Amino acid sequence: MNEVMKNILGRRSIRSFQKRQITEEELGEILEAGKYAPSAMNQQSWYFAAVQDRSLIDSLLESAAEFLRTPGTDPFYGAPTVIFVFGDKSAIAPVSDASLAIENMFLAAWSMGIGSCWVNFVGRFFESPASQPYREKLKVPEGYQCVGSVILGYIDGEIPEAKPRRDGTVRIIR
Ligand SMILES: Cc1cc2nc3c(=O)[nH]c(=O)nc-3n(C[C@H](O)[C@H](O)[C@H](O)COP(=O)(O)O)c2cc1C
Repeated sequence: MNEVMKNILGRRSIRSFQKRQITEEELGEILEAGKYAPSAMNQQSWYFAAVQDRSLIDSLLESAAEFLRTPGTDPFYGAPTVIFVFGDKSAIAPVSDASLAIENMFLAAWSMGIGSCWVNFVGRFFESPASQPYREKLKVPEGYQCVGSVILGYIDGEIPEAKPRRDGTVRIIR
């Protein structure tokens, strides 16, 4: 199996992180991988806000308490970097564009030994009035929706086993 295939099949969502921050170079390469995702009509309709300021993340979590499934726990699992991924609502396919960028970032991170996971509540939070101060702090352009967030950090502990993949989701018609 080639290295790209190994990287794709080996990637797992990681939910346990070391406190140590990833390097600037690693973050830069991961963001670059996001920018090189395909996008509808090459609109590159995304906006990535990478946050490494824990006090800003904590304050956002406080403001977003009502959007969390299990209040009191950290939905970002203590990851030292969170990339909030937005898409231009006026673009042809902002959610698809942003989602492809997210997967590119996951795979780039995995290839560098960096763990990642999609964290979803941010989509709901950034539609609420309580998110306005954070839209300003993150300098989100007008008319953008939050598609999801990418948490990043060095993996703490064991890499989880791959969950079994469902049968019946593929058919080859010849
Ligand atoms: C759209 C989307 C939303 C997700 N939201 C969350 C989330 O909010 N929190 C979380 O811990 N994992 C989240 N995940 C990660 C999935 O649980 C994970 O991808 C799935 O269980 C398969 O595991 P794997 O990524 O290790 O293959 C999300 C994944 C996707 C694609």
